[in-house]
Amino acid sequence: MQKVKTAVLISGSGSNLQALIDAAKDDAWPAGIALVISNKADAYGLTRAERAGIATMVIDHRDYDGREAFDTAIDDALQDHAIELVCLAGFMRILTADFTTNWKGRMLNIHPSLLPSFRGINAQKQALDAGVKISGCTVHLVTPDLDDGPIIGQSAVPVKDGDTVETLSQRILAAEHVLYPECVGKYAGWMREYGG
Ligand code: GAR
Repeated sequence: MQKVKTAVLISGSGSNLQALIDAAKDDAWPAGIALVISNKADAYGLTRAERAGIATMVIDHRDYDGREAFDTAIDDALQDHAIELVCLAGFMRILTADFTTNWKGRMLNIHPSLLPSFRGINAQKQALDAGVKISGCTVHLVTPDLDDGPIIGQSAVPVKDGDTVETLSQRILAAEHVLYPECVGKYAGWMREYGG
């Protein structure tokens, strides 16, 4: 089976990207990471991609006049590389409705909370402020509404007494590194088996 040609969009450290790169080393995992796009030139994830021999691009939102132009540049890059599946992995830009609609059913995101709780930024702080005892992470399809698409998978982690944003974020991140490759693998497999 030919692997699903996948792009990963990042803005920072790229530890989830690394988890996907590691998963892709397994021939049986159905996605192949063909392109990494960052909106930040200094994102460490770019180094991770280069080390793995994956094509990288920096598309800096500040170089574009508005969200539509930025999203069009990303779309052009994805088309140029014949990308079939897009994975957002710590990509901290809100995408336009046109872009998400174009990629409907072909774009996944990982979010550091148990959606539908704590959408948007600082999800870990939102969980701490709310006093919940369980949080976690969610992989979902991307739709025009922020952090709102159909859920592919979730993983729960405890919120411990004395947790800070940092300690809770690290515990959630460890769960993300397991969940995202599982979900991307499952979804890419479905695309090959049931996709048009
Ligand atoms: C991860 O915790 C991811 O869930 C979160 O950013 C972090 C990126 O870490 N994403 C969001 O908050 C998106 N709303 P990474 O760059 O090390 O993968």
